[in-house]
Amino acid sequence: WSLGARSASVDRGSAPDFTAKEIDEQPAAARRLLDGLLGRLQGGQLLEDLGLGAPARIRLVACGTSGHAAEVTARVLAVEGAIPTRVVTASEPDLAVPEPGTLTVAVSQSGETADVLAALDRWGDPVLAITNAPRSSLARRADAVLGLGCGPEVGVAATKTFTAQVVAGVALALAVASGTGRLSAARLAHLEEVLDGLPMRLATTAARAAGPAADLAEELAGEPGVVFVSRGAGVPYAREGALKLEELTYRWVEAVPAGELKHGPIALLGPGTPAVVVAAKPRGRLAVGIAEMTARGARAVVVGPPEDATLPTCAPSEEPPWGPLEAAIALQLFAREMTVRLGHEVDRPRNLAKSVTVE
Ligand code: AGP
Repeated sequence: WSLGARSASVDRGSAPDFTAKEIDEQPAAARRLLDGLLGRLQGGQLLEDLGLGAPARIRLVACGTSGHAAEVTARVLAVEGAIPTRVVTASEPDLAVPEPGTLTVAVSQSGETADVLAALDRWGDPVLAITNAPRSSLARRADAVLGLGCGPEVGVAATKTFTAQVVAGVALALAVASGTGRLSAARLAHLEEVLDGLPMRLATTAARAAGPAADLAEELAGEPGVVFVSRGAGVPYAREGALKLEELTYRWVEAVPAGELKHGPIALLGPGTPAVVVAAKPRGRLAVGIAEMTARGARAVVVGPPEDATLPTCAPSEEPPWGPLEAAIALQLFAREMTVRLGHEVDRPRNLAKSVTVE
């Protein structure tokens, strides 16, 4: 099962680089994907459409950015469905014990990541691929394909495929949770409504964060490193923001749950050290982390609702189980802006390939 044909166009039009174009395309990509998925979630219909049975447990396997999308998906499965779920880093699959009734969900935008393909050989489970490449090795290997339909992503740094992977993963998680009866029809309808508003919130965030991201990049371009923190559902987005910044700008990054700061990373902080805080619930405990950092002289850069944010987003009033996805677009803009200021190649960072086809 796949969502529409891939666009053949790889023209960057008037955009300064493909990464800028692909960041801009996220609201439209999310809209297309949601239009294909909403309405298939009740009672686990999506699984039936994919030709899959109801799983007893789910193993998500991925690398890099796709692994962050897998973490978000796992959280929604746990919170809304109480489904036993684990996320396996594809290059480290050895300890993942086979368990009957498991559905393996392989998340890979390219569908060609060698570690993901090799990991699948270790398990005999049915495989669902979440991929942007419906003719890839992964899609051919999988029993079912949930296509992202984003069109080609040329920039080596994943942007639109990340938000699309989160949308597809969340839809899958809600369908599984609804299929088990643990997620009520009323709660599902509410979450579908919140999801439906996501494209608009992504577009508003892009518009709101663009100027502040450029200003912040100008201010921080000379910094050797940046610490990223969040809590709960925000942690995968802190990790993703950090990965984007390091792969594009070659700055050192440290991304940790705020509660982990005092167990080591706080030693990195000194006067003026930039500390990016992805706003998430529980805000109270995150505030403690911010206070710990600013007490050491760190400069807190909050990504979240405009009231108290340096990088403002447009988030729903109540945090959904998939967390502050809108923060991803603000952090992508920030990373790209800093890359431009440093004079690095935005679409093709050094030492990296778009898909890693060796183990
Ligand atoms: C993302 O910006 C990176 N280029 C990288 O971490 C990437 O997500 C990873 O290599 C996985 O690629 P895939 O989604 O094609 O499997």
